[in-house]
Amino acid sequence: MFIDNFNRRFSYLRLSVTDVCNFKCQYCLPDGYQRPSQMQQFLSLDEIDKLVTTFAQSGTSKIRITGGEPTLRRDIEQIIECCSAPSQIHTVAMTTNGYRLSNNAKCWKDAGLSRVNISIDSFDERLFNQITGTNRYSKVIEGIESAIDCGLQVKLNTVLMNSYNFHQFEHNLERLKQWPVELRYIELMETLEQRQFFEQEHISGERLKQFLIRKGWRAQTRENAAGPAQVFSHPDYQGRVGLILPYERNFCDSCNRLRISATGKLHLCLFGEHGYDLRPHLGDNDSKALKDAIHRALDDKLAGHHLHDRNPGQTIHLASVGG
Ligand code: GTP
Ligand code: 5AD
Ligand code: SF4
Repeated sequence: MFIDNFNRRFSYLRLSVTDVCNFKCQYCLPDGYQRPSQMQQFLSLDEIDKLVTTFAQSGTSKIRITGGEPTLRRDIEQIIECCSAPSQIHTVAMTTNGYRLSNNAKCWKDAGLSRVNISIDSFDERLFNQITGTNRYSKVIEGIESAIDCGLQVKLNTVLMNSYNFHQFEHNLERLKQWPVELRYIELMETLEQRQFFEQEHISGERLKQFLIRKGWRAQTRENAAGPAQVFSHPDYQGRVGLILPYERNFCDSCNRLRISATGKLHLCLFGEHGYDLRPHLGDNDSKALKDAIHRALDDKLAGHHLHDRNPGQTIHLASVGG
């Protein structure tokens, strides 16, 4: 089992398989994905297999495939199969912008995917397209419906921003009357490339929570091995609301996840530290060296992120660390 010095157990792996994205979300990649000057090699299927097998042997039961946009990988179906192969892995999930879901949801489910988190920052087409820098609103809505129809468990991610979509907070909840999904409101996080945007657009988590409670939503008890959201339910709605409030005190106490970047670096946190290169250990048959490297790195895991500091670290944007 991977455990840190604060006795946190890591059973949830967030595996990024590409940095590339085809959307231009205002808070993430407003100018679109910029190819670095040096050619980057993303993890191969064999390297992914080695990581998945080793993590499964060390207590991992949930893998989330992330990016960039993971579905831009041509071998995404094989990656899903590979992640779901070990018997210890109970949940294979993916976080996606949703644009390839309408054509592929069923096939990815058959490959072993059980859950999908889809970004949808507005249910107003014009605003959605403005926030994401695309014209893919209808495609994403079709994707959500296909995912629900084929039996995938669906969560929707909405990053709330002051001048863009906050006014739709209540209106969005109407969708939960028909859709049996969890709609997660995410508090905007500050990254290196969007400091000014953050200053203008950030809304405090406490304000979001009070708003929800005033409208009759009630907090549920946190399940073991849950993700980062606090979940709320309401008797009039089928769906639930999740709040992801990374600036709340104690947010990091329940951290149960490790991250691997698309180039094979282990990240102990979304913020504030460099990655530990695991690639040198991904070529050989023996997984002991890989396990030892992860255990050694875990000694450095801090109690919490640096989001409260004046300088919250070097994370350029969330697409580079898999969100
Ligand atoms: P579930 O496992 O379904 O709960 O999903 P998740 O919330 O872990 O994954 P998703 O990729 O949908 O992420 C939703 C939001 O939570 C994104 O904005 C992530 O960056 C954020 N998030 C997830 N884990 C962490 C974390 O450890 N720290 C911080 N600060 N944010 C996180
Ligand atoms: N703050 C909060 N959430 C973010 N995401 C991307 N960048 C940020 C940020 N700066 C969200 C996306 C996606 C998830 C993986 O991370 O909207 O749903
Ligand atoms: Fe792409 Fe996701 Fe970043 Fe949007 S938030 S630009 S969909 S990686």
